[in-house]
Amino acid sequence: MAARASIVVVGGGLAGMSAAIEALRQTSHIAGVTVALLEKEARTGGNSGKASSGINGVLTRTQKSKGIHDSVEAFVQDTLKSGHGRSNETLVAKLARDSTQAVSWLQEDFKLDLDVLARLGGHSFPRTHRRPDLDGKPQPVGWGIVSTLGRHLGEVAALENARFKLVTGARVIKLLPATQGGVAGVVYETIDPDTKVIQQHSMHSDVVVLATGGFGGEGSKPHYLKQYAPQLVGLPATNGAFATGDGLGLAAALGAELVDMDQVQVHPTGFVKSTDPGNPTKFLAAEALRGEGGILLNGLGRRFVNELDTRDQVTDAMNKFCSAPDTRARHSASTEEIPKEPLTAAFLVLSQAAADSFGHGALGFYEKMGLMSRAGGLEELAATLRVDQAVLRKTLQDHDSARDKGTHDEFGKSVFPQSALNPLTPSDDKLQIQIQYYWGIVTPSIHYTMGGVRFDDMARVLRAADGAPIPGLLAAGEVTGGLHGANRLGGNSLLECVVYGREAGRQAATLVTSAFFA
Ligand SMILES: Cc1cc2nc3c(=O)[nH]c(=O)nc-3n(C[C@H](O)[C@H](O)[C@H](O)COP(=O)(O)OP(=O)(O)OC[C@H]3O[C@@H](n4cnc5c(N)ncnc54)[C@H](O)[C@@H]3O)c2cc1C
Ligand SMILES: *[C@@H]1O[C@H](CO)[C@@H](O)[C@H](O)[C@H]1NC(C)=O
Repeated sequence: MAARASIVVVGGGLAGMSAAIEALRQTSHIAGVTVALLEKEARTGGNSGKASSGINGVLTRTQKSKGIHDSVEAFVQDTLKSGHGRSNETLVAKLARDSTQAVSWLQEDFKLDLDVLARLGGHSFPRTHRRPDLDGKPQPVGWGIVSTLGRHLGEVAALENARFKLVTGARVIKLLPATQGGVAGVVYETIDPDTKVIQQHSMHSDVVVLATGGFGGEGSKPHYLKQYAPQLVGLPATNGAFATGDGLGLAAALGAELVDMDQVQVHPTGFVKSTDPGNPTKFLAAEALRGEGGILLNGLGRRFVNELDTRDQVTDAMNKFCSAPDTRARHSASTEEIPKEPLTAAFLVLSQAAADSFGHGALGFYEKMGLMSRAGGLEELAATLRVDQAVLRKTLQDHDSARDKGTHDEFGKSVFPQSALNPLTPSDDKLQIQIQYYWGIVTPSIHYTMGGVRFDDMARVLRAADGAPIPGLLAAGEVTGGLHGANRLGGNSLLECVVYGREAGRQAATLVTSAFFA
């Protein structure tokens, strides 16, 4: 057979890796089909590698073993509710339906131990899977997943180099249009490390899968942000600087429709580092910190929100109730005042019970990074945060009494994972040094872009002019829009990468094999 067929995947985060792996598996029996994965950075992983809270799934082996009676329907409803009526129900239904398989793909095929479950904001059940500490060390979930899949792809590239190629340092700058419409390949740039000379290459392909991620990392060069969400320009962000929305321009040039571009998720809890408070890139305080019982306090030592509300609601409440002049705390290590910027900041406080349940591996990591500190008792905590001790005590007590009563509190919180107040220990008790509070300062940060290329449940990119699929162009992950509507639920993005990445891989395989035998 002389004819060859090829698939190019653009972007080496979780969506791109899932697509490449699935495309390779589905075409393994056909000689002459090649797959290439192009990544502009020196290493793969993208924002997927930064994920720390986990991946959602219902009816998984982990949920079953813990006796959690979740359902696809409950997951669909939570996701639609969070999207405030903007999500496409077909896309959401597939996400939820395929979530069981997506998690088991990682757990069984790749032996990833995703057996810790948290209930994140906006979820009716604990369904966000992450990895346990190993020998007291954290095993960050996103990095664990992308390094495992990356290793697998590296092995395929080594064993079957005629069939699969991974090219890093390759920035795709153009999609080549096919004469009969659709896509015929890509143009990408590489930079010679010695001479710094930029070289252009073109690569033919029958199918292109766009998996280039979002545009939350534009930073000081806002392009899409300036155009679609100018009010957010200047906010810090949790994203890597590679997240510049490249795929949006590539697809739009072929006529793709962009949807929900103004829907940008501001995560309420980017860590403010006391030694570097003005840094525009924030390390994310994992949502699981609140999911495991962490609470938020304003500068007066009062709670102001249901910590397990959706991200948009928590951010809104912070902007309302936590202006800078109230937040006068400092880390014990630093003598510098928190400056007026950022404008909004709150304290994130964990009791010992919440800390134990979150895991000391990751907490220790935050401490080492200078993002969280400890306080021995309530007195010390109040003094460090510079809040009134009586106010702080009442805040924690009120939280716990609502927890004991099993009612809603004044902020509408009805799930209280742990008590907020540490048990009092006699002053001579040796245990006292082991019962502590853990705290950090957090500020709203650009986190995720819900908008992107319009696509359907077969991962096909749709044309603006008539809504028809653009032949040969597929997309998955954060580059797509329409799934999360106005607000993405925590844990749904890693999931979308696996569900729609694999779907794109399957569709790509179907397209090239049908073209092949036609
Ligand atoms: C700090 C942080 C924590 C998060 N935690 C969670 C979590 O716990 N759970 C969850 O579900 N979601 C989480 N998210 C969101 C989630 O990680 C991302 O939305 C998701 O992983 C995006 O995956 P992706 O594959 O679409 O894009 P990415 O993982 O960002 O990968 C895109 C890749 O494409 C490459 N690329 C871009 N343009 C080009 C180009 N022109 N040519 C070649 N390559 C290109 C990029 O360099 C990048 O490597 C978190 C996000 C952040 C920033
Ligand atoms: C939702 O997506 C499906 C395809 O996946 C499409 O058929 C449908 O028209 C979309 N609905 C809306 C309201 O856009």
